[in-house]
Amino acid sequence: MKIVRVAIAGFGGVGRATATLLLNRRPRYRQVHDADIRLVAVCGSRAGLADPDGLEAGRLEALEPGLTGPAFIEASGADILIEAGPSDFRTGGPGLAYLRSALSAGRDTIVISKGALVHSGPDLRDLARSSGAMLKLSGAAAAALPTIDLLEHSLRGCEVLEIEGILNATTNYLLDAMMNQNLGFDEALARAQAGGFAEADPRNDTEGWDTASKLILIANFGLDADLTMDDLVVEGIQSVTEQCIAAWRKQRLVPKLVGSLVRTDGATRAAVGVRTYPMTDPFAHVSGKNKAIRITTDAMGETIAIGSGTEPLATAAAALKDLEHILTARAARAGHGSGGEA
Ligand SMILES: NC(=O)c1ccc[n+]([C@@H]2O[C@H](COP(=O)([O-])OP(=O)(O)OC[C@H]3O[C@@H](n4cnc5c(N)ncnc54)[C@H](OP(=O)(O)O)[C@@H]3O)[C@@H](O)[C@H]2O)c1
Repeated sequence: MKIVRVAIAGFGGVGRATATLLLNRRPRYRQVHDADIRLVAVCGSRAGLADPDGLEAGRLEALEPGLTGPAFIEASGADILIEAGPSDFRTGGPGLAYLRSALSAGRDTIVISKGALVHSGPDLRDLARSSGAMLKLSGAAAAALPTIDLLEHSLRGCEVLEIEGILNATTNYLLDAMMNQNLGFDEALARAQAGGFAEADPRNDTEGWDTASKLILIANFGLDADLTMDDLVVEGIQSVTEQCIAAWRKQRLVPKLVGSLVRTDGATRAAVGVRTYPMTDPFAHVSGKNKAIRITTDAMGETIAIGSGTEPLATAAAALKDLEHILTARAARAGHGSGGEA
């Protein structure tokens, strides 16, 4: 049986959920992938833990100060890095150093935070290609909603003409509440914050930046584009007034914050803004905290996926879906799998 060592950098809500799910799924990895998955390191911003024989669930509470950073992950001997630190698309955030270090060493990498991928996506993609590392990002690119997987697997070989996505659950909830519960923006936001699914500072969601970030990841990693934030016109939902809501209600139209991308003659145009849909359109029925994507291709027409899940479990599961894709790809590289024999 292969031993595969995994490290997790960024050990907040999502990092911890990923560790727990990974440890719970160890019997599955043995059975399905003939792999002994060992969690050899975890770290937050100031503390961490490492054990080459694998950390067990009971040991993950007491992190040791000073055990953190890309060099700590490197020294842990991990074959695969899962990065789940804070996201900052303007600087790349702490994730950037972890990703550069892992990918340049040829270490397969699963990314959950968006910042580094939006800031330096094409560079990281090229780094992975030149070192032969696999770079997966389902957790960052809308998590429970399949996006890049659809492009890579389900629609493989087709030419993508257009993508539309309801990619941010918070804004979908807010628009839904404004339309159906007769709430103003501030009241809907206060409810979402009280329910724990809007940030104290909600601007990353409400101004459209989160949707834009996910759209850029889908374009750059699913379609091999080279988009940056400067290429997008980004509008959020903060300017949606009561008058807009009343008019849409009257016309039986449903507003959604949508990231959209159109490809013509090799050029990719992308934008984020509010679009309205008639009740006959499936997007009109994507309610509450759901997300959705519609991909139009030359040969398969329209494909729509709608999804959501309870966080942080759903994001952890998306990252571990990537882990299984990596295990499968490693197994297919006959004679080239990393890790020792148990
Ligand atoms: N929450 C969701 O449902 C969801 C869904 C999809 C994607 N994401 C993304 O997943 C990421 C994590 O989300 P979260 O909710 O788990 O956030 P969180 O609870 O704030 O956790 C962030 C973690 O990153 C750690 N960190 C900060 N700087 C670091 C550094 N230099 N080195 C190592 N670790 C560092 C923090 O350490 P300390 O503990 O020491 O502060 C903390 O453990 C974010 O990028 C988020 O956008 C989240």
